[in-house]
Amino acid sequence: MCGIVGYIGTKQAAPIILDGLARLEYRGYDSAGMAIYDGEKINIRKSAGRLKILENLTRGGESMPGICGIGHTRWATHGAPSDVNAHPHFNTSGTIAVVHNGIIENYIQLRKKMTARGYQFLSETDTEVLAHLLDYYYKGNPLEAVAKVLHRVEGSYALGIMFADCPDQIFAARKDSPLIVGQNEDGCFIASDVPAILKYTRKVFYVDNQEVVRLRADHMHFYSVDEEETEKTPVMIDWDANAAEKAGYDHFMLKEMYEQPKTVSDTLTPRVKGKEIVIEELNMTEEEIKAIRKIHIVACGSAYHAGVTGKYVLEGLARIPVEVDLASEFRYRNPILEEGALVVVISQSGETADTLAALREAKAKGFKVLGIVNVVGSSIAREADNVMYTWAGPEIAVATTKAYSAQLIALYLLAMKFGKTRGKLSDKEFSCLLTDLRRLPDQIELLLNNKLKIQKFANRYIGAKDVFFIGRGIDYAISLEGSLKLKEISYIHSEAYAAGELKHGTISLIEEGTLVAAVSTQPDLYAKTISNMVEVKARGAFVLAVTCEENKEIEKAADYVIYVPETNPYFANSLAIIPLQLFGYYVAVGKGCDVDKPRNLAKSVTVE
Ligand code: AGP
Repeated sequence: MCGIVGYIGTKQAAPIILDGLARLEYRGYDSAGMAIYDGEKINIRKSAGRLKILENLTRGGESMPGICGIGHTRWATHGAPSDVNAHPHFNTSGTIAVVHNGIIENYIQLRKKMTARGYQFLSETDTEVLAHLLDYYYKGNPLEAVAKVLHRVEGSYALGIMFADCPDQIFAARKDSPLIVGQNEDGCFIASDVPAILKYTRKVFYVDNQEVVRLRADHMHFYSVDEEETEKTPVMIDWDANAAEKAGYDHFMLKEMYEQPKTVSDTLTPRVKGKEIVIEELNMTEEEIKAIRKIHIVACGSAYHAGVTGKYVLEGLARIPVEVDLASEFRYRNPILEEGALVVVISQSGETADTLAALREAKAKGFKVLGIVNVVGSSIAREADNVMYTWAGPEIAVATTKAYSAQLIALYLLAMKFGKTRGKLSDKEFSCLLTDLRRLPDQIELLLNNKLKIQKFANRYIGAKDVFFIGRGIDYAISLEGSLKLKEISYIHSEAYAAGELKHGTISLIEEGTLVAAVSTQPDLYAKTISNMVEVKARGAFVLAVTCEENKEIEKAADYVIYVPETNPYFANSLAIIPLQLFGYYVAVGKGCDVDKPRNLAKSVTVE
């Protein structure tokens, strides 16, 4: 996620802003910049790369004198990491500067409108449209201009804004992307998150949705987007700096699990326009979509597990044959790709060596590659023919959660888009799927609130030797990911098995008290999975079932049941994986493992 810091007061602004941005580095970024008012005009310095480059460029802020400014670290979503795409963005005359965290969903329409009004754009970003809109609406009243712009943008934003005409004030505004403001005896502050200003004040105000703040050197005023003044109650922060980076969560992994409702919504919402799914970055005509004869999904680890789900969903909804490969296998087996094949590579980091090699293998054979990637400007993003971003923000914990959930959403959207275009989904079926898709963020939120129950159950298995996860169809894909989550952070041996395959050998490992997690979210397979549960119970297993609320029958065969809300069976992975993520997390925490940085693992496996 991007980082925002603003300051107006009696001290030099640039060093304070640089210090604040440095404390937000954990959020991940690929460029940085500052705008400082020097008493006559706004000076802007920005560059791709690490914050250190900006610090060197400005001699620690000394070359940008002034007591009022805004700064930004950018996590690219629209437009690759570059100097020109870095924030702050500004109007043509350089009298207005803005920094932004979030996604302006209607920026393409707004950009067209402003271009038609004669505005010239320098960057590829969605944010720049805000600077020109502010210019268009500014007639001497900055608050009015800000309010008018906010009425016209759709999407999420946390903003810092400054006007050269009004150097005694800066503005903050927020919708969905977090933002706080604070004050001490030396001035007032804007920040994306508490760590940036904890050094200066522990008394902060959390900016509410569609709220605007006018900050002056010695006071702040809060307004609605209709310019009505409002009162705010401050919050005293009692976290230390380290805890503040995790927003009060014990680990980045838990924080990122709790970001999943937003991650899912951020990946989904910009691509659902009314009753249609619009995936502009697909760059495929209807004819090209209809001409697809097979899809090859290639990835590693959790991304591969998402791909296994993608197979079932794409084959089920679009009726396109799908083959899923581990990238490390695909790249060496001289894969047979035939005319009409579409290769889809999935990668959170966009730097996984095996997946990148697989992409190059497919391209070398003359086939188009679609990347489902989280990191803008990453190697896979740059080399894929088309990229569908997951917009999950930077994922710090080695064990993926929010990016994995976003990958699932991307695959659901593709399957629905392809299914509708190829005439495999009726309007009614499509509409029902869309309704279920839109409910997922709230349903995930509901499951996350179940964490204490999961934690209590997990504490019983801190000493476990072997844990098995079984399921059929999509439930097998869910089991793969549930098993990996447990073993990679708790170091407990775990295997996922197609439930029907267990009896062909592995069932010999089941002993008295062995935990078997049976995932059962596919109504057509409920009975089959129950029979597998009975099999393992007969051999002494303790059976945890993860199933849908309607499936009460399962209680006859399970020792412990975790229910998930109703959704379309094709989307069940997005819900059933939540308790399994929490289970793996709490077992690892109970064992005292380094949850965010598990032994032997790297966040991005850039070597073979
Ligand atoms: C999952 O929790 C692991 N971090 C790992 O399996 C990961 O999914 C795999 O290395 C692929 O990484 P990528 O998505 O960045 O390509």
